[in-house]
Amino acid sequence: MSTCCYKDSSKPVEKRIKDLIGRMTVEEKLGQLNQIYRGSDNPLPAEFAIQVRNGKIGSFIWGYAQPELRNQMQRVAVEESRLGIPLIFGMDIIHGARTIFPIAPAMAGAFEPELLERAQAVAAKEARAQGLEWVFAPMCDLARDARWGRVAETCGEDPYLSALCNAAQVRGFQGDDPGSGEHLAACLKHYVGYSSPRGGRDYSDTEITEWTLRNAHLPSFHAAINAGALTVMSSFNAIGGIPAVANRHTLTEILREEWKFKGFVVSDWNAVIEAVSWGYAKDHAEAARLAICAGNDMDMLSTSYYRTLAKQIEDGTVPMAVVDEAVRRVLRVKFQVGLFDRPYVDAAAYESAILRPEYLALARESVVKSTVLLKNEGVLPLSRKIRKIALIGPFGDDQTEMLGCWQGNGEPKDVVTIASGLKDKFGSKISLAVVKGCSVSTEPRMKMLQDGSTVIDDSVPMDNAGITLKEAVSAAKNADVVIMAVGEPKGITGEGGSRATLTLTGRQQELFDAVARCGRPVVTIVFSGRTLTLPEVFDKSAAVLFAWQPGIQAGNGLADLISGDAAPSARLSMSVPYEVGQVPLYYNHYVTGRRSGGVYRDGVPTAARFWFGYGLTYTKFEYSDIKIVSGKKGKPAEAVAVISNKGRRKGVETVQLYIRQLACNEGARPMQELRGFKRVALKPGESAEVRFPLTSEVLGYVDRKGNMRVDKGDFHVWIAPHARYGEPLVYSHK
Ligand code: BGC
Repeated sequence: MSTCCYKDSSKPVEKRIKDLIGRMTVEEKLGQLNQIYRGSDNPLPAEFAIQVRNGKIGSFIWGYAQPELRNQMQRVAVEESRLGIPLIFGMDIIHGARTIFPIAPAMAGAFEPELLERAQAVAAKEARAQGLEWVFAPMCDLARDARWGRVAETCGEDPYLSALCNAAQVRGFQGDDPGSGEHLAACLKHYVGYSSPRGGRDYSDTEITEWTLRNAHLPSFHAAINAGALTVMSSFNAIGGIPAVANRHTLTEILREEWKFKGFVVSDWNAVIEAVSWGYAKDHAEAARLAICAGNDMDMLSTSYYRTLAKQIEDGTVPMAVVDEAVRRVLRVKFQVGLFDRPYVDAAAYESAILRPEYLALARESVVKSTVLLKNEGVLPLSRKIRKIALIGPFGDDQTEMLGCWQGNGEPKDVVTIASGLKDKFGSKISLAVVKGCSVSTEPRMKMLQDGSTVIDDSVPMDNAGITLKEAVSAAKNADVVIMAVGEPKGITGEGGSRATLTLTGRQQELFDAVARCGRPVVTIVFSGRTLTLPEVFDKSAAVLFAWQPGIQAGNGLADLISGDAAPSARLSMSVPYEVGQVPLYYNHYVTGRRSGGVYRDGVPTAARFWFGYGLTYTKFEYSDIKIVSGKKGKPAEAVAVISNKGRRKGVETVQLYIRQLACNEGARPMQELRGFKRVALKPGESAEVRFPLTSEVLGYVDRKGNMRVDKGDFHVWIAPHARYGEPLVYSHK
């Protein structure tokens, strides 16, 4: 036995870990790899305390803000178990703990990664106050298929933007010291390829080539690992028949050997034994062996490690060294988040640690910066002459819906709805009629016939929320302007939220049509966890704001934009298709050998309705003098443009740099790749020069062995307000 004691905080962490592992039984080791869900029972089942006391559980998924109860359980681990190893408590804090922010694709659309960093720093403080040391975020998956409900958790479709935003989230969560008591451990998920399920069906299989993996799916994970992420979650999908939880290539060769990741990997929920359902492993024991040997350290929920590995260690099928290494990684993170030295949380401080005014101000700023203006025929910001507004639609005064798909400990009562935001903003100056019109119901208006086929069920009443269409129409007719608040309910987004249509749910389309026919200018605010195909909304509205799922300051942020106290600057982090049949649809696809003519045989364009990067402001920006300036004295060449505000209001323009390598023998490269952006704030009449150095990082790609590489040759370069804008320049890289 080493003389170093793991309890001595003056000793180096690696020595403390070595000492501790030396004292542990096999059972205690497997306990550290066993993560259990706290469940919804109150009080907790007595069985939990017994198992913790016996060292059989190393971590809880702790889905509630109950710091007292969490401390009680921790006390059992620290004071009553043989070695006193603290538990680590984790939870899905995705876009806020109690202060709920807009969802990630909205925040990414701010094109300001620091905004995500600041928001997640708030989330970390609130989460710590409730006794968490670990959050299951950020999500580094890509949003390439709007049918997949979990696009609502991603930073959009672009690997570069996603990489910057996810690295920023890691910095926000972890700070300089994840053990400081204000920060905690982040968890990158879902590693890897989960976001390309067949048919957009959640949990479905994926086929991803090494080339696409390296250049599309992995960069965001890699950037977040480089930002210091302490943990990673392996995903539910299988690539080419190998479940992610048992994929040695991704978990060990890439993550550990290439990227030198020192933290631990946790499986997704029950995913270890799902290797049996996949038909990859014959039973739980084999699944556990394949997963831990591939590099998956902790078993979320399935308990298969705990139940089966001791015997497999004994009979030599699983090397003790593999288990020791997994335990070492878990313990290391427990040390890094400070659990050995400060295992408890000050439960009395919780209430004063949440929903602080500065957190609410940041949530409001986030709504302003992440709501995308998709159309404006001059109706926004509202004219001061407007006296009567009709706010119509099921999202107008709904607190629950604003919270979004992962609401942490967010509560509907914290939410400022659009109705209350507008009332606060305009007071008695404007009369506001609020009409729900119909519910957000996802109850299908379909009924099944005896032969098993389905038809539209016209008996589902329009007034299923007790409010009639007539009331909506009369409010619209009586108003100077109508604000329609429509979209898809949060409950059908996120996990398991796959859709086969991308339309408004329930009877909202009929509501919209009836109101639009009244002839008043309609400002439509769309609430959604994904991009939707809304031809009538886009065609018939005078203005469209795409608000995603905006969080608790929804009403205040949107009222700031509608009134003109703030101006929109956000861009789409996901392209908007015309029809669901176009997806997967993303701007950075390949240029193929033959073009299809740009139209499907049934007349639908192959292009997006709005491409990635698109978004309007309240003013007009002009791009001029776009050129390449060659670099002097060994410095890289630069792409340069002048941006001018030609409108009458001040505004922020999100200037974007795209490149394409025209010939690449390693493998063709996409039609366009975002490789830089700048937010430029200009007053009317002002201009600014924007410069993007064409460095190796900007021009390079990841080769098939995982190395960054830049080739000599010709590149197309665009400086543009969104993908697919303007003609490229040609740059020859020597
Ligand atoms: C989800 C993960 C989540 C985990 C724990 C799983 O079903 O896929 O994203 O972190 O549950 O709640």
